[in-house]
Amino acid sequence: MSKLVVEGGHRLKGAIRINGAKNSALKLMVGAMLGQGTFTISDVPAITDVRTMCGVLEALGVQTCLVDNELRLQVGVLQGRVPEELAKSMRASIQVMGPLLARLGWVEVALPGGCAIGTRPLDLHLDNLIKLGARIEVTGQRIAASAECLYGTDITLRYPSVGATENLMMAAVLAKGETVIRNAAQEPEIIDIQQFLNAMGAKVQGAGSPVIRIEGVSDLGSADYKVIPDRIEAGTYLLAAAATGGQVTLENVVPEHLEALLTVLEAMGVEVYRNEDGLTVWTTNKLRSQHVETAPYPGFPTDLQPQFVVLATQAAGVSIIHESVYDRRFGYTSELKKMGAQIKVDGRQAAVVGHTPLKAAQVEAGDLRAGAALVIAALAARGETTVLGVEHIDRGYECIEMRLRQLGAKISRMEERREDALPVSVLRWGGR
Ligand code: UD1
Repeated sequence: MSKLVVEGGHRLKGAIRINGAKNSALKLMVGAMLGQGTFTISDVPAITDVRTMCGVLEALGVQTCLVDNELRLQVGVLQGRVPEELAKSMRASIQVMGPLLARLGWVEVALPGGCAIGTRPLDLHLDNLIKLGARIEVTGQRIAASAECLYGTDITLRYPSVGATENLMMAAVLAKGETVIRNAAQEPEIIDIQQFLNAMGAKVQGAGSPVIRIEGVSDLGSADYKVIPDRIEAGTYLLAAAATGGQVTLENVVPEHLEALLTVLEAMGVEVYRNEDGLTVWTTNKLRSQHVETAPYPGFPTDLQPQFVVLATQAAGVSIIHESVYDRRFGYTSELKKMGAQIKVDGRQAAVVGHTPLKAAQVEAGDLRAGAALVIAALAARGETTVLGVEHIDRGYECIEMRLRQLGAKISRMEERREDALPVSVLRWGGR
């Protein structure tokens, strides 16, 4: 098991290029199963979630090969049973349901395992796949779904779930007739999937708005595609820069995708300079506290909430953070408290006392974004902090320590590195 050792108290300074979005790449990968032939997807982050998804695809009949952030997929003869250990290790494996039902007519997948950040039911996925014509049986920990044919229908989601919107879009592209998804998620990753599916020959429109219309087609081909920049990775580095009083330029970002965060940062006193595909932030002023409520896009992203809480510990005054998306996403605050943070959690709300000097400690990440938050806290703290649970961080951040070192951080990975944490240039996996 690796750990990160961070000597804090150094301002981040410099420029880095942001990777393609994890939450888009994973869905494009499963979406390829709707088509046939060879796909080249570029700007795919070399992270363990992508590796796990390569394993899922290989088991289902897709050859995968990722070299230097370019992923080649060769869709062969598909089968629909996802190996249990792979399905349980990543919630996004549930996204194979839509594509496999549409393309193959059956799928069997284990229910995703427990989640550190809250209860995450699948009703919006399953109930609406049934509306499209699927038969679904949940036995113990296993979901079995089948359909001779899917039929377009009118769906209204009670909540704009990202994963359910994507699963239903992918099921509907090969359904007979028109499907309308109302109260759909509006995240930029949904637009990315629409564009990818349309590049394969699908007829999808409206992504990015609450109503998505899909006209079913009989078959789909292949596509070459570039993943959009990862707004959560970008936001993480912006928050790290602000928390250390640094100056950082990010390349390959879409500033519009980060507007909710940028508005809050500016209100706190962080200087933000936007250009077409770049952003620079710097902190010269004393930061002011802010109240933030997480919400579906275009609201403040829940995936930046833990990292924001760390910044709030450094701003003058008390910040109130309300978590509206997940019911248990403040668990990591107990680790921050070991570093001296003063945070009072009450259900879905946290009050963070600002201007608190953070001190070094040994802390452990319990999930991906909590891990990123602990790294930011370590960068801002005096002394040498050890962050355990790095496997969670590696799920979503490519070589985080190398990228932070590029910005002047004093951070190193200790103990044996696994193959999936190797630099992108030497990463090779998949293939047969
Ligand atoms: C995706 C992201 C995740 C992000 C989340 C919200 C990926 C791989 N993950 O997760 O990083 O935090 O969007 O921006 O893209 N819900 C239900 N029933 C359902 C589905 C969801 O009640 O059938 C609830 C969940 O419990 C949760 C909320 O809806 O409270 C949001 O979940 P959802 O938007 O589905 O998130 P994911 O797609 O799982």
